Order: sequence, then C-alpha cells, then structure tokens
Amino acid sequence: MTKKDNSNPLKEIPVLETERLVLRAFSTDDINDIFEYASVKEVTDFLPWETHKTLDDTRAFLKMSREMFNKYGNIDFAILLKQEKKVIGGISIRKWNDINRCADIGYVLSSKYWGRGIITEAIKRIIKFGFEDLNVNRIEAHCDENNTGSYRAMEKAGMKYEGTLREKTFMKGKFINMKFYSILKSEYIG
Ligand SMILES: CC(C)(COP(=O)(O)OP(=O)(O)OC[C@H]1O[C@@H](n2cnc3c(N)ncnc32)[C@H](O)[C@@H]1OP(=O)(O)O)[C@@H](O)C(=O)NCCC(=O)NCCS
Repeated sequence: MTKKDNSNPLKEIPVLETERLVLRAFSTDDINDIFEYASVKEVTDFLPWETHKTLDDTRAFLKMSREMFNKYGNIDFAILLKQEKKVIGGISIRKWNDINRCADIGYVLSSKYWGRGIITEAIKRIIKFGFEDLNVNRIEAHCDENNTGSYRAMEKAGMKYEGTLREKTFMKGKFINMKFYSILKSEYIG
C-alpha cells in the first residue's frame, strides 16, 4: 500500500483525551518511559515484538513508528495518565485503506497499571476517533486466545467476538490460535 492509498487524512497525530488519559504522538523524550514497560518480559509475552534489552531497541521502535506514520498513515499514540504525565503504554490504529475503510487496533500497557480499566478507556477513545475523525467503517482487533485481559478489554469497549482462527499466527516459536473482535460504525453509539 502506498501513501496515496490511505484514507487517513491526518498530517500530524492529534492529541486525544479521556477522563483519566491523554493520547498523543510518541516523542524521543519518552524513551526512558517506554523502555521501562517494554523491557518487562510479562508485558511482551503476547506481543509480536521482543522484550527491549537496551535503549537502542526503544530508539528503533520510535524510528519505525514515525516511518510507519509517514509511509502508511499508521498512528501510534502514547498513553499518559493525566495525573502522572508519564508514558505508561501505547495504542495504535492502522492498516486502513480507501476501499474497505477498515482499521485494526493494538495496545500495550505497563504491568504496573494493569486491571484499572485503562486500556478499555483508551480503546473506547480510539473507536470514537476512528469513526468520527477517520471515516472508518469497521474497527477490528485480535489477540492470543489465552490473553484474557486483552479480549476482556475489547468486549468492555463494545467490540463483538467474531471467531477464533486456528494457528493463525506463528509467534515466539509456536503457532497461536487468535480471537478476532470488531465493531462497526452502524453499532457505534458515540
Ligand atoms: C491486555 C492489557 C492491554 C489489558 O490492559 P488493562 O488496562 O489491564 O485492561 P482493563 O483493565 O481495561 O481490562 C482488562 C479486563 O480483563 C480482566 N483480566 C485481565 N487479566 C485477566 C486474566 N488473566 N484473567 C481473567 N481476566 C483478566 C480484568 O479484570 C479486566 O476485566 P474486568 O474489568 O471485567 O475485571 C494489558 O494487560 C497489557 O498491556 N498486556 C500486555 C500486552 C498485550 O497483551 N497487549 C495486547 C496484545 S493483543
């Protein structure tokens, strides 16, 4: 897909807010905050990327994130708690095109903040952003069938279970059954 195929109309990544969170573009100044969560093994167990070993891994992530925005319009938001003004995770919306108007989301959160409804709150805001600002018609997400926290958050954000694709992904040495979820613009209540 070339840049002109994208329906993402944005030149820059906006700042979005929820009650407790700010979602904004990553900055090179965030490197230590990102490394703090990305270097924890339990955080990356269900993710396709490897646990960060050094700050160079985090630097490479920041570079790739910017490139994917410029080339494909993929948007990676940093997640900050308003109270702490520190990056504690990330949430992305990506892979859309003009014909299908379908986007995919993915997310990660520092393990220190798990279980407080933070990702549910962030997913809801990204769904609103996709439908109201990006003219997307369908937003989907998927996860390892054993990643209960991830699919519970999708469900709580209003996404519907569509099925499990058997051994869909080869990740970290094994084939993984993936659960797929989505929400359509016609189902979205703003
Ligand atoms: C998955 C993840 C994003 C969830 O973030 P979070 O902010 O803790 O999620 P929320 O608090 O909004 O919701 C999680 C829900 O799952 C539940 N949950 C979490 N882990 C669970 C587990 N092992 N078993 C059962 N329920 C679990 C929580 O209790 C909560 O549901 P509830 O409010 O009904 O109790 C976070 O754990 C994470 O970053 N994991 C590592 C990266 C990752 O897996 N990303 C997703 C890749 S698809």
